[in-house]
Amino acid sequence: MKNSQLAHSFVASLVLLAASLGGCSDLKDALPEASTASLSVHPDGWIIPASANFHGKSIRENNWDMRDCQPCHGKLFDGGISKTSCRTCHTKPGGPENCTTCHGGVNNAPPPDLSNRTDRAVKSVGAHQTHVSGTSFAAAVSCAECHSVPATVYDPGHVDSGSPAEVVFNAGLSTMRTGVVPGGPRVTPQPSYDPASAKCSNTYCHGAFVNGNGDFAPVWNDPSGTQMACGTCHGDVTKTSAAERALPKTRAQGGTHPNFTACYICHAEVVDANVKIINPSKHINGKLNVAGEERSF
Ligand code: HEC
Ligand code: HEC
Ligand code: HEC
Ligand code: HEC
Ligand code: HEC
Ligand code: HEC
Repeated sequence: MKNSQLAHSFVASLVLLAASLGGCSDLKDALPEASTASLSVHPDGWIIPASANFHGKSIRENNWDMRDCQPCHGKLFDGGISKTSCRTCHTKPGGPENCTTCHGGVNNAPPPDLSNRTDRAVKSVGAHQTHVSGTSFAAAVSCAECHSVPATVYDPGHVDSGSPAEVVFNAGLSTMRTGVVPGGPRVTPQPSYDPASAKCSNTYCHGAFVNGNGDFAPVWNDPSGTQMACGTCHGDVTKTSAAERALPKTRAQGGTHPNFTACYICHAEVVDANVKIINPSKHINGKLNVAGEERSF
């Protein structure tokens, strides 16, 4: 048994003690009072992140369950009978139950991941920020496009399930119905994520739409940036100019898109004459902006 597990079972037995003494008026006296007291409830190193006894580690090894702490530290983690509030250190709304306590920082998504890593070549960090914060060329994607988002920490399927995190493409852009084959029936692409290869397949956003590159499967943790180039999701990356690269499948390629590369003439709200995306909120938004109109596929 690891030190921190020992620490946790120690705390757990104290919880039982606290519970069995419940209602007893001198419960408070049964507990060590302050951290200056000679006997501390918690082991040495409990508040030192580098220690094997660190409380964060102990919680992690108890499947991220903090409910054991509440009998003493209060339902709202604001002190309770221990008179020691978690919120003096965990100052964000909700205290330790804030969504960024265990993952995320700028927003709820990694980085940092659950192991405090920030490298986007790591699967658990991956392209999160490119998606959730938006880019100069596409609108932000919400967590719910790729996950079943918990409303509270202990919602089923959140901390109670094993690694890796579940990637679930819920209704939205990722499952949009389009005619993947020109002139064919409207179909719902079956988007999927393979945790082994970290590839996403059949997503509307990355090409599963009429005249797009339906077989493009981007790698989630490829940090090179090349998967954002014109021609990956629609068009042909091997062509020379940006316009030629971005041009969706034309008749010569078995598609139906007009064979014109002056994109801005017909898609003026989205690209300029230099083939630069001028309105990220209208690119990869599930709507086709053509000839001054916004239409569904
Ligand atoms: C003295 C300050 C302090 C107090 C009090 C405190 N914490 Fe922490 N806690 C920290 C620090 C520092 C970290 C590490 C933050 C980091 O790694 O970025 C942390 C991390 C955590 C983590 C994240 C573990 C992880 O690996 O991501 C949880 C969960 C947590 N604390 C819960 C609690 C709970 C519950 C309480 C009250 C019962 C509490 N903390 C009280 C300072 C404190
Ligand atoms: C049986 C009651 C009890 C339980 C259960 C308990 N604590 Fe405590 N905790 C205390 C008391 C009392 C203090 C203040 C005295 C001390 O430091 O030992 C304290 C102090 C702390 C401190 C130190 C604060 C500081 O500034 O020094 C942290 C952090 C902490 N607890 C976190 C936790 C976490 C996390 C859990 C759940 C995994 C937990 N506690 C469960 C009673 C408890
Ligand atoms: C006590 C730590 C902790 C807190 C606080 C926390 N999470 Fe998580 N979260 C986790 C863990 C652990 C996983 C990974 C679970 C897995 O591997 O399946 C996770 C995964 C996720 C995922 C990926 C999908 C999944 O469930 O695997 C989302 C989305 C998420 N959390 C959102 C939130 C939101 C929103 C909040 C605030 C309401 C929150 N988290 C608070 C620990 C936490
Ligand atoms: C475009 C799809 C996508 C979006 C949007 C997205 N995620 Fe994820 N998320 C993933 C993938 C892929 C993984 C990696 C699964 C794996 O480890 O193989 C992941 C993993 C995670 C993990 C696990 C981290 C760990 O350390 O294991 C958390 C937590 C998480 N996501 C939270 C969020 C939150 C919160 C948001 C919204 C702010 C969000 N995600 C938005 C695709 C997405
Ligand atoms: C990540 C995949 C992806 C990449 C990379 C990409 N596009 Fe797109 N593009 C789409 C999708 C999906 C659509 C379908 C319409 C929509 O949802 O906005 C689209 C539509 C368009 C349109 C039609 C106007 C509209 O409705 O949005 C133009 C023009 C366009 N893209 C230009 C470009 C250019 C130029 C580049 C390179 C800078 C590029 N695209 C790179 C996914 C991509
Ligand atoms: C002459 C007008 C015209 C020009 C120029 C044009 N498009 Fe289109 N585009 C359309 C029309 C019309 C549609 C939708 C109808 C269709 O494809 O059947 C469309 C649709 C699209 C789509 C969605 C897929 C599809 O075929 O429905 C993308 C992506 C796109 N255009 C990108 C571009 C890019 C990139 C350029 C420049 C390289 C460009 N278009 C130039 C008229 C044009």
